[in-house]
Amino acid sequence: MAKAKFQFPRGFLWGNATSSHQVEGNNTNNNWHAWEEAGHTEHRSGLACDWWGGRWKEDFDRAAETGQNAHRFSVEWSRIQPARDRWDENALDRYREMLRGLRERNMTALVTLHHFTDPLWFMEIGGWESDEAPQLFADFVRKTVSALKEYANLWVTINEPNVYGFMGYVAGIFPPGKKDLKVAFKVMVNLVRGHALAYQVIHEVQREARVGMAHQYRSLYPKNPRSPLDRWVTKTQSRIFNDLFPRAITDGKVKFLWRRVNIPEAAGTQDFMGLNYYTRDYVSFDLRMASELFGRRSFAKNADLSETGFIANEPDGFYEALKWANRFKKDIIVTENGVEDAPDEMRPRYLAEHIHQMWRAVNFNWPIKGYFHWSLVDNFEWERGWTQRFGLWELDVETQKRRKRKSADLYEEICKTNSISSETLKKYCPEVMEKIFPD
Ligand code: BGC
Repeated sequence: MAKAKFQFPRGFLWGNATSSHQVEGNNTNNNWHAWEEAGHTEHRSGLACDWWGGRWKEDFDRAAETGQNAHRFSVEWSRIQPARDRWDENALDRYREMLRGLRERNMTALVTLHHFTDPLWFMEIGGWESDEAPQLFADFVRKTVSALKEYANLWVTINEPNVYGFMGYVAGIFPPGKKDLKVAFKVMVNLVRGHALAYQVIHEVQREARVGMAHQYRSLYPKNPRSPLDRWVTKTQSRIFNDLFPRAITDGKVKFLWRRVNIPEAAGTQDFMGLNYYTRDYVSFDLRMASELFGRRSFAKNADLSETGFIANEPDGFYEALKWANRFKKDIIVTENGVEDAPDEMRPRYLAEHIHQMWRAVNFNWPIKGYFHWSLVDNFEWERGWTQRFGLWELDVETQKRRKRKSADLYEEICKTNSISSETLKKYCPEVMEKIFPD
């Protein structure tokens, strides 16, 4: 067949995404460490990828050498502010050094200020349930952005507040392990308030800043489209999971089931839309699933399932997510997308098919500015510990040795050519050739 290729616009950002607790190691002053120590997780994060020990350098080299021109990482609040009345300048220096490391490698930095973890002292006063939380977060943001602004102007305030709220306060799987809708609502409102304050603070400190949230979008379909109950529960879940936060920071209104709150200062506090997309679920109404708001989620019957059955390869859902994101009329940055796959059998086609869908969207002139694959090196997967491997590089947790996976070669070709070509696909995932480059 003729050679063909899909080209991306000049200046498109290609990178990986990571987060502090998942890669740094020895993060002992936050709620996740306490949660692991209390035995709630199968594994412990331990040394993680040893970035705090300095291995970020070799991993940034890997990223830069394979053509990546950007990286998304997060700073750890509990390191920067180890106690309510104490700032650790050494920690800020360390993050400055990492940001300089990116600059030296000609990589654009996207910095996340909150990625699931909270300092212990903050949890002791109630965490995001406390009325003080938004202001305390904004104080931390002021200190951090003032210290790092020389090296970064793209900021994500909070990563996946929907997942944080749901997992910690509805499903009880993340710390603090609560299952209480009333508390969950309070937490969500405070996350919106915290974001809004942080947005103002960042713009005060840095005029050229671009600020967003990283929203996880899940494509949700009624399992039986003819069932009104399945349709109702799918719509309700989508309104809460997908729409609540982006709407709140667009029009200042929080809607959660029958509850309504106006937060006028949150309106218009998003310069770009950070989008995390992984998969699509089919939802059926089930009275036994009160904790999941009566929705039972499953994957499509013949789904192409990931290694541990965590993700179904549904690239159409990514296109749908981008279309949804485009409704907010802001620049879009794909802040996460990836799959757990230690043998690296599915990842090449997952990667190729998702990037192909993104290319389609780019060609409608939807303002998609970059793509950050989750993740660079296998890292600590929260309650799933080390059982899931999302890295382009495999990590041996004991020896800290990295090994390049085939997908990293594939991604390298994409990043270096700013395109996805029939030649590349033929090499790495011939099984999707007919779909993407039909003869
Ligand atoms: C989170 C990441 C996580 C990834 C894969 C996302 O929801 O932001 O921290 O590692 O999913 O589980």
